[in-house]
This record gives sequence, C-alpha cells and structure tokens, in this order.
Amino acid sequence: MATWSAPGKVFLFGEHAVVYGKPGIAMAIRPRVYVTVRKSKVMHHARSPYIDGCFEEMGVKGSVYVNSQIPSSSGLGSSAAVTVATVSAINDEFSLGFSQEEVANSAFLIEKRVQGGKASPTDTSVATFGGLILILGTQRRRLPPQNFNMVIGNTMVSHSTGKMVEMVAELRKRQPDICNPVMDAIEGVTMGALRYLQDQSQLGRYMNMNHALLDVLGVGHPSLTRLVLAARSAGALGAKTTGAGGGGCMIAICPRTVKNRVAKAIETAEGRAIITTMDPEGVRKERDVT
Ligand code: PMV
Repeated sequence: MATWSAPGKVFLFGEHAVVYGKPGIAMAIRPRVYVTVRKSKVMHHARSPYIDGCFEEMGVKGSVYVNSQIPSSSGLGSSAAVTVATVSAINDEFSLGFSQEEVANSAFLIEKRVQGGKASPTDTSVATFGGLILILGTQRRRLPPQNFNMVIGNTMVSHSTGKMVEMVAELRKRQPDICNPVMDAIEGVTMGALRYLQDQSQLGRYMNMNHALLDVLGVGHPSLTRLVLAARSAGALGAKTTGAGGGGCMIAICPRTVKNRVAKAIETAEGRAIITTMDPEGVRKERDVT
C-alpha cells in the first residue's frame, strides 16, 4: 500500500495566454489531494476517468482510496493533483522507478488524453514540483518561493475549461486585431509581475490589470466580478479571476492583517472563501492512512 499527496494550484498570471505560448505564473496552494493505492489481482475501477487513466497508462491493477480537500471543477487543479498523486502512488507501490520529471510528464499525458487533447502542462507541473512556477511554452522554471497571503473565492458556479478555451480560440479567429494585442498585453503584465514578486502592492496592481484583460477576452462572469470587487473593497491589494473563468474561482492578494476581512467580504458576496498560502512542496509520500 502506498499513500501520496499533491497540492492544488492557482494561476497568478497568464491563463489563456499560455495556451498560445505566452508566459504564465502558477502557484501550488495548501489544500491537497491524498491518494492510496494497493496492488490487487483485479482492477477496482475508480469513479474518476483520471484515476482509471493512470492504471491503464502504467499497465497495472489495483484499488484506490482518494481523500480530496480541493473542490473539483473550480479551477484549483484538483484533476491534476489526483493524477499526479495516483501516478506517484502506483510508481511507489509497484516499484516502477519513475523520476519526478517522468511522473510530471506521464501525468500531463494522462490528463491531456482524458480531456480530449486540451491541457497545458501547468497544473501537472505545479502539482508535481510545488512552489511558484513560470511556464514558458513547454519549458518550466521554478521561481523563488514567496510568502503571499492569499484568499481564494469560489463562485460555486461550475465552468468548463475546455469550453472557455474554445471561446477564446473563436474570438482569436474572428477578431485577431483585438485578441492578439490583448494576449501581448497579458504577456507584458506577466513579465512585468516577475520583477515584483517581493512587492505585494505592485503585484496586486498587476493582478488587477490581468483581470481586466481576461474580461476583454470574454471569460468573465458576474459572480467573479462581484467577488473581485468585494475583495478589493475589503482591502485586498489586488484581485483577479484565476484559471479558465466563466465561473470557478478568483484570487485576492492581501496584507496579513486584512485576510480575514477579505474572506468575510467574499462570503458576504455569496462566494466560498479559502485563506491560503503557497505550498512549497509538490507531490510527496504520506504515512499510510488505512
Ligand atoms: O481553470 P483551470 O484551472 O483549468 O485553468 C485553465 C487555464 C487555461 O490557461 C485557460 C488553460 C490551460 O490549459 O492552461
């Protein structure tokens, strides 16, 4: 029996633009997914296509127990965390000898296949390596860890990442004269933000700019606008949609002393708040739970 856990993630900058080779910055966050795998002679199918995909890809049979603290379908990377933790637990239980790099690559291929070919390696990279990661095309670079005080606001409006990516692709085809400069501006914001990772006030301003640019791409939602404005009014230094948009989650960066106030404002605006910080650790082995 082997138990492994992996963190969820938020996009700080660059979602959607990363699909077109622009840079993105993503961060591992505290809620985790825990997966226990046990060898068996027959396959006990899980309810998740991601977990079944892991067993198929790795050519083994077993049973799985999942304990997730990450809400699903909300843009916090729960499917990538489940996939990375399952691949790692299978690798351990069956002594397959995969390196961390190989775990990240297999998990990405599995996630991409389950999602019909639509996925960037962002979520699986962050779930594997943890911390703060810059995505640049197919490359990833670890950035110095930061101690951000962050509040996530879940709109509880479920969204489909595939549909939102499709919508942006459509806009890009129909109105390249508008869409392409917006993508370039998002790139400018992401690269600019890299200089201010230790200056949360400046970073907050960049987050606000990124949010406005995502709205121009048409991936906003009234519930996201409501939570973003509530967080800013309560003293957040910056707030934006995180992930695909059209529902899902927003994030706010704030001084330590106001994070409870920001969380309360998000709840008053009908969101579900999670106060979190960066998780420096990626996928890791846990003590067995059963
Ligand atoms: O909503 P999420 O967490 O699945 O993020 C999607 C981010 C996109 O850039 C829109 C797509 C991607 O695969 O990077």
